[in-house]
Amino acid sequence: MRHKRSDFPQDFLFGTATSSYQIEGHGQGGAGRTIWDDYADTPGNVVRAENGQRACDHYNRYEADLDLVRDAGFDCYRFSLSWARIMPEGRGTPNAEGLDFYDRLTDAMLDRGLKPAATLYHWELPSPLQDMGGWRNRDIAEWFADYTRVIMDRIGDRMWSVAPINEPWCVAWLSHFMGLQAPGVRDIRATARAMHHVLLAHGRSIETMRDMGLNNLGAVVNMEWATAADGSPESVAAATRYDAYYNRWFLSGLFKGAYPEAALEGLEPHLPKGWQDDFATIGAKLDWCGLNYYTRKLIAHDDTPWPSLKEVDGPLPKTLMGWEIYPQGLQDFLERTAREYTGDLPLYVTENGMASPDVLTDGTVRDEARIAYINDHLDAVQRAHASGVPVKGYFVWSLLDNYEWSLGYEKRFGLVHVDFDTLARTPKTSYHALKHALTA
Ligand code: FCB
Repeated sequence: MRHKRSDFPQDFLFGTATSSYQIEGHGQGGAGRTIWDDYADTPGNVVRAENGQRACDHYNRYEADLDLVRDAGFDCYRFSLSWARIMPEGRGTPNAEGLDFYDRLTDAMLDRGLKPAATLYHWELPSPLQDMGGWRNRDIAEWFADYTRVIMDRIGDRMWSVAPINEPWCVAWLSHFMGLQAPGVRDIRATARAMHHVLLAHGRSIETMRDMGLNNLGAVVNMEWATAADGSPESVAAATRYDAYYNRWFLSGLFKGAYPEAALEGLEPHLPKGWQDDFATIGAKLDWCGLNYYTRKLIAHDDTPWPSLKEVDGPLPKTLMGWEIYPQGLQDFLERTAREYTGDLPLYVTENGMASPDVLTDGTVRDEARIAYINDHLDAVQRAHASGVPVKGYFVWSLLDNYEWSLGYEKRFGLVHVDFDTLARTPKTSYHALKHALTA
């Protein structure tokens, strides 16, 4: 690594991130069925129809996994809680085994001196809630508030930070407009409702946790820098629309109590009645904001219904996901977010990382490309910090190779290699490099 801990401010935090369905092994411990199980069981959705029933078996191996987090010198561990593990039906009687698991997991983090950074929802909606409309149904805000109370009653006293929902764009747009994640819907009316209800649920969850006296509450949004693929006014407008429904919608809702015009132009006719009255809840005060950043997109006009755009293949080097490597976008987002939305509020990079081939040979996994990726993005964080942005931490996605959603176990994002036959963990070169940077 080009960087070391002492290049950053003393209170700057380093962490690594995972999520429940991607690592735990959902077939164990009495977890209920989720929309990801349903999505994966539908032919054509997921590579080799793989699901998270076994994943990394973190449910049984969490102690050793947390040893890896501690030994690398990380300060924080960003993890998520599975709604369906805690409430198998989504509502009603909690699963005692699930609550016990997260209780043990919390104490295991604290025993290792790690700050627990919890996310309440990282995409595995209990299937019975999907039967009632899932994110289309306004009632999801109350279901989510009830779930928030159940799990925070048990572990809230020991959390360092809590964010209700990971990446609302993926929950709403990717899953209801593009159909590329569960529940795999392609419908603009469902999308508009999900775009709004995901923020309403976030707000109700924050209100619930404030009532319980919890602190250090935030939101985690994902961002993709949108660049017009050509100089035509049509493509510039298309990139503006992409930026509006991808990046600005959620920040605007959370911090300005409004939605951007360039997104409303297509979504407003499909929003639920009275949406304008929900911003007091959506805008419930936050203590920090997290940005997940991976890539940019080149956007061109397309002669299709709104949003009338298409993604164009870009010229930059790409990760195994086919995502262009564009660290400048991270600096630009940190600066724009602080300038236009969050002001002095602490910002965190809550996810950043790459998929690479990462072949295990002779007990070693060399992933120099990942080290370079992290170096270049840490440069961007430093430039943003130098320009005055209150960026307070950086989390690598991910600790382990894991279930990469519709790409199954094919795309490896881990600092630690996982053999999905034996479940053996092997720290990669990037893990050792980060460990050196953080602890030497
Ligand atoms: C993010 C997700 C995370 C993982 C990475 C690669 O959008 O939050 O679960 O899939 O992308």
